[in-house]
Amino acid sequence: MQNNNNSSFDLSLNLNVRGMPLSATLFINELSNKLRQQGKKIYKFGLGQSPFPVPKIVVDELRTNAFQKDYLEVKGLKALREAVADYHSRRNDILRSADNVLIGPGSKELMFLLQFVYYGELVIPTPSWVSYAPQAKIIGRQVAWIKTKGKNKWRLLPEELHKICENDHFKPRIVILNYPSNPTGVSYSCEELEELADVARRFRVILLSDEIYGELNFKGNHCSIARFYPEGTIISGGLSKWCGAGGWRLGTFTFPDSLAGLLNGMAAVASETFTSTSAPIQYAAVKAFKGGLDIERYLWNARKILSALGTKIHNILTSGGVEIPEPEGAFYLFINFRNFADKLKSKNIYTSMDLSTRILEETGAALLPGSVFGRPEEEFTARLAYVDFDGSRAMAAAETIPSEDSISDEFITTYCSHMLEGTEKIVDWLNGKLVEYGKEYRQNFTF
Ligand SMILES: Cc1ncc(COP(=O)(O)O)c(C=O)c1O
Repeated sequence: MQNNNNSSFDLSLNLNVRGMPLSATLFINELSNKLRQQGKKIYKFGLGQSPFPVPKIVVDELRTNAFQKDYLEVKGLKALREAVADYHSRRNDILRSADNVLIGPGSKELMFLLQFVYYGELVIPTPSWVSYAPQAKIIGRQVAWIKTKGKNKWRLLPEELHKICENDHFKPRIVILNYPSNPTGVSYSCEELEELADVARRFRVILLSDEIYGELNFKGNHCSIARFYPEGTIISGGLSKWCGAGGWRLGTFTFPDSLAGLLNGMAAVASETFTSTSAPIQYAAVKAFKGGLDIERYLWNARKILSALGTKIHNILTSGGVEIPEPEGAFYLFINFRNFADKLKSKNIYTSMDLSTRILEETGAALLPGSVFGRPEEEFTARLAYVDFDGSRAMAAAETIPSEDSISDEFITTYCSHMLEGTEKIVDWLNGKLVEYGKEYRQNFTF
């Protein structure tokens, strides 16, 4: 008898999805893992995941609630929605109630639902996080890009937003604003947000304020644009970044009353797709959003470590000749190699993808090319995520340091030496010091 298990199926894929690759971040992570398994020394500057453990009181709460087995309300556990609403009043001075909150299995999924439910254009300032645009593509929505400038620290200016809105005054639009930003690590001041809010109100756009890194603002003074444009802003957040719980999959959207129709539409689709978010995780998340001394201490130390490491890497790289805005939050640096353009072209490097691939091949440092963040292919930019260190060890050590003391260079050298080594390799490569190493190294690569 013939075994047909391996014969391929002539699949009829949705046109919007046909040929779509895995998300670039996951791709680089898988590639780095593969190379590492082959015994190569890899500096994983690719994937942006918190290095720190989930705070103990939140883990304990999950343990206590492991028995919770019932499906929960589609919009989310009432106690969690209340905790999220209280959190926004406490942190951002924005009055919201449980009825304004929608819980989902990650904010990424909620963003997808939002784009699905809302019929309009998606406006994305670049560089921006890798998944906004592919989601629009899957759903078949139009994307309008706004190219921000390096000299403005890659931040969206009010006049740039104004320009795109006045093109077609009445077009329904969602504008995404993400701060502190992935991929730049830069944020906005309250005053800058107020100016952007004025433009948004004038054109009645819906703002999706992606504040998933808000608690990782290094100064702990994150400001939400919802304070200045409450009626048109949806705040996106979750446990993934500040609570180190990306794999728990819990995201939150907080709406104003004026956008209740969107919340309800999204809940209707959720009820027909994922039903509700994991029950034990929701119970544990209540603890996280309620905050308290343990959470504050955890955040204080996380910010201190990330700020010290980000600044150190920034300084090493900029003294090597590249341009990077100073990091203000999250765990990313967006590097502009334009000063090396001639040198790179002489090595047959013409795009940011060429650049990232060659750096990975010749130094072992895995960066993500600027093109996956919506930048032009031929612009020599790349994102560096500085999270490839043992966050549990670093956090435990930081807890022994008096809270008012900053993190020393010695601390960073002790706990994050691998990141520093990888950074030095990039600088050496730029300065042509790794040519021989590169040759020898390249022979070991299979791609
Ligand atoms: C800017 C930004 N927004 C949203 C997300 C999605 O986070 P999650 O789905 O884990 O809530 C990420 C994750 O990397 C991100 O970097």
